[in-house]
Amino acid sequence: MTLIKQPTPENTLLAARYLKIGALIGLPTETVYGLAADAENENAVKRIYEVKGRPLDHPLIVHIGSIEYLEKWVIDVPEYALTLAKTFWPGPMTLILKRSEIARDFITGGQNSVAIRFPQNEIALSVLNNFHQLGGNGLAAPSANKYGAVSPTDAFSVEEELGLKLDRETDFILNGGQSEVGIESTIIDCFSTHKPKILRSGFVTQNDIQESTHYQVIQNLGENQIRFPGGIESHYSPKAKVILEGTPQGGDGFIALSSIDTPEGCVRLSSPANLSDYARDLYLALRKGDKKGLKRIYVLIPEGEGIVVAIRERMTKASR
Ligand code: TXA
Ligand code: MG
Repeated sequence: MTLIKQPTPENTLLAARYLKIGALIGLPTETVYGLAADAENENAVKRIYEVKGRPLDHPLIVHIGSIEYLEKWVIDVPEYALTLAKTFWPGPMTLILKRSEIARDFITGGQNSVAIRFPQNEIALSVLNNFHQLGGNGLAAPSANKYGAVSPTDAFSVEEELGLKLDRETDFILNGGQSEVGIESTIIDCFSTHKPKILRSGFVTQNDIQESTHYQVIQNLGENQIRFPGGIESHYSPKAKVILEGTPQGGDGFIALSSIDTPEGCVRLSSPANLSDYARDLYLALRKGDKKGLKRIYVLIPEGEGIVVAIRERMTKASR
C-alpha cells in the first residue's frame, strides 16, 4: 500500500493535524522533499533522526509559513539578515541566526544558532499555515533521504528511500510532483560573523546576496567550526560512483546538457535543455542510474555561474 496522498485541501489539513500529534510527513518543497515533524516535539524530531539514520548532533532546518514566526525562533537578527529575509522569502534560502529559547538542543545539535527557512512551494505553505493555525510554531524538515544519500525531488523517491520506516498510522507523503529547483536551499550563516557567509550554495547565489545586502559575501571554505552540510565525507551520493573528469567509458551513465551527444556505449540518464532543467532533473537522473544498477555515472557539469555553482558543489562532494 502506498503512503502517498494527493495534496488536496483535506490532506494538507490532515498532514498539519497529524504533525501536531507527532507524525512524520513527507513534504514537497520547491528545492527538494523534506521529512517534516513538529520542531517543538522532541519525540517526533528524534524519529526524524532514526528514520534517516542521521547523527544526532547534525542540526535541522525549521520551516515557517510566514515571516511573523521568525521572531519566535530567533533573537538579535542583524539588519542584513532581515534584508535577505524580505528579499528572498518565501523561497529557496535558509538563514542561520541566533536561537531563541524555543529552538532546543534537539533541533540545533546543541549550537546557539538555528537554521530557518520560509519555503515557497504552495503545498508546503498550505501545510505550514494549517499547522500554525493549530498552534504550531514551525516544522523541522531535513531532506527526506537516508543520511548521505541523494535528496528526493519527487514523492515516489521519498517512498523508495524511507517508506518502510514511515510505519505509524499517521505518517504519510504528500505528492507535490517534481520539485522545481531540484537542489537544496542556499544556507547563509548570519550568526558566526558580522557579514553573510554561504555554507551551502543554491538557487540564491553569492551575487544575489551581495546585491541585496551590499556586503562582500564569504563563500564557505570548509573551515567552519559549526556543522554544515557536506562537512562530512560522502554526501549527496548515489550508489554508483560519480565521475566528473577523464573520459566516459562504455556502460557509464551519462548526464549532460541536451546539446551534448551521448558518448558511444554510455547510458543517457538526462538531457536537460538549459541550466535550470539540469538542476531540476539532476537528482532524479542519479537515482535512475542506481535503479539501472550502473557502477559509474559520468556527470558533465555545464560551464557557468548561478545555479551551476551549487551543481558543481554537490557533484564534487558526491564524487569523493
Ligand atoms: O532545501 C532545503 O534546505 C531542504 C528542504 C527540505 O527545505 N532541507 C535540507 O535539510 O536540505 P537538510 O537537513 O538535509 O540540510 C540542512 C543542513 C544540515 O545538513 C545542517 O548541517 C545545516 O543545514 N544546518 C542546520 N542548522 C544549522 C546551524 N545551526 N548551523 C549550521 N548549519 C546548520
Ligand atoms: Mg540533506
